Amino acid sequence: MQSFPSRFDGKTVIVTGAGSGIGRAVAERLATEGARVVATDIAPERLNDVSLGDGGVRVAGDITQTSVLEAVFAACEGKLDGLANVAGIMDGFLPIAEVDDETWDRVLAINLTAVMRCTRAAVRLMEPAGVGAIVQVASEAGLRGSAGGVSYTAAKHAVIGLTRSAAFSTKGTGVRVNVVAPGGVITGIDATPRSEKGFQAVMNIMMAAAPGLADADDIAAAITWLLSDEAKNVSGAVLASDGGWSSI
Ligand SMILES: NC(=O)c1ccc[n+]([C@@H]2O[C@H](COP(=O)([O-])OP(=O)(O)OC[C@H]3O[C@@H](n4cnc5c(N)ncnc54)[C@H](O)[C@@H]3O)[C@@H](O)[C@H]2O)c1
Repeated sequence: MQSFPSRFDGKTVIVTGAGSGIGRAVAERLATEGARVVATDIAPERLNDVSLGDGGVRVAGDITQTSVLEAVFAACEGKLDGLANVAGIMDGFLPIAEVDDETWDRVLAINLTAVMRCTRAAVRLMEPAGVGAIVQVASEAGLRGSAGGVSYTAAKHAVIGLTRSAAFSTKGTGVRVNVVAPGGVITGIDATPRSEKGFQAVMNIMMAAAPGLADADDIAAAITWLLSDEAKNVSGAVLASDGGWSSI
């Protein structure tokens, strides 16, 4: 992994879902590049394992809970330069005819509502300061109907809409909001199918259209670039990091 040692010197950046996969790669890369990382994850044992260097802060808890969100933002001590909304779960590939309310509610709560609430809290800190970068993680499932179940697909499409609206409403304030849409990535995400029909339908398309799996570091490279000042002219962008899958 190539890194840029001082790209985030003096910057405070929140990373959700920092205990595993893409979030962990983002948190560790940011720390290596000088950031004070506020890392949060629902799994404390995974969070404790993440290398944050000096000054990093860990907040274990469910990001859908108000108390956890408040603890995360309190740990920023009034200074926030970046937010990476990475925490997310899959939905067992349940299609519309099979989805249950519990799955829908949980997937939307983590993958969409928590993203909105973290983004709102970040913008409220960043706008008065006139600076800040927010990066959401959508998915190929945010770009097409054939890469997940209905809950995951709806949430990831909505994250793209949320990002565009937030970029529009913060235009000219110094705050930027962008979204990365990964294709398949090797991580710890629970992709256990709960619908044979839904899973097979997605797999048929994926096997035909999707390139191979990426590493979490490949996605972290895109996310950290958007968080960095190098992307100062970029807001409202949907950056696919998917080996070209979205070009089909
Ligand atoms: N792995 C892929 O193929 C892939 C593809 C496209 C998009 N994504 C997206 O990338 C993001 C990261 O996924 P990953 O593949 O690295 O998965 P992962 O499971 O390896 O990491 C996700 C982390 O989020 C945490 N998390 C889950 N629910 C949480 C909650 N309520 N509160 C706090 N933390 C919570 C988990 O504990 C986990 O450590 C997700 O938004 C996912 O939808 C993943």
